[in-house]
Amino acid sequence: MSDGFVIRSLEEIRFWSRIMKEHSLFLRLGFRCEDTALINEANQFYSLFENIESRANAFTAGTDPNVIRRFNEEVHAAAAHIWVFKRKVLGLILTCKLPGANNFPLLVDHVSREANYFRNRLAELNLGRLEPLPDAIIDENVFFLRIMADHAKFISHLLDPSERKLVEQANEFSRDFDQLLYQAKDLDSMRPQSQTVPLLDQFLDQNKVSVKSLRDFKKTARDLIEACRIKSIIHPLLADHVFREAEHFLVIINMFENSLTAASPQMKMPH
Ligand SMILES: [Fe+2]
Ligand SMILES: [Fe+2]
Repeated sequence: MSDGFVIRSLEEIRFWSRIMKEHSLFLRLGFRCEDTALINEANQFYSLFENIESRANAFTAGTDPNVIRRFNEEVHAAAAHIWVFKRKVLGLILTCKLPGANNFPLLVDHVSREANYFRNRLAELNLGRLEPLPDAIIDENVFFLRIMADHAKFISHLLDPSERKLVEQANEFSRDFDQLLYQAKDLDSMRPQSQTVPLLDQFLDQNKVSVKSLRDFKKTARDLIEACRIKSIIHPLLADHVFREAEHFLVIINMFENSLTAASPQMKMPH
């Protein structure tokens, strides 16, 4: 295990532990006052991931890889636990056990998918078994395009209905990302024949254009919400949270573009 393992592990944990911490807050805000057991559970997850986040920030690239491997295992367990909690909450909502609570089922499912993604990333890092580049490009895009499509839907549904222009814009993003997601799934089902450099390159280019414009829309929404210039029930931290997830997706797309350019001579036909 090299330094690359330590750096990548810390990057993933620093990003996703903050995300998991914030999910705990959003879930808690959506519970009813009488759901004290659920509120306590959410608060415990908040502290758990706050602790993980501060420890991840204290480690450095020079930390012993064995220490990081154990840390990854511990964080993997925490991600698995919050996933179980989120699925339990989803079950309660879908069986109408929490009437009047304020979290959409799709939002709870969405945050559970993010926990599952985080858990898988940690398992892959510890096994040292990363997917081949062409598979990673398709799988990560299928995952993140759906995440982006969901975000557009959450923004549309949490804006005040009187913010007609913004709701319309959010709905346009929702349609745009649903289309991109279907395109990604088409490329997925055409594997491995679809995994040529020109097709993957074009796929990344096209996705990047839409992610950039969604990222800019989220940034504007965040700034407007922070300045109290628009009517919504969006927590300012949720607006910032979805903005950071779009930024993260852009970093991944850029990384893929660079690897694709570097790998292109050998990568004409994988498998
Ligand atoms: Fe999230
Ligand atoms: Fe998200």
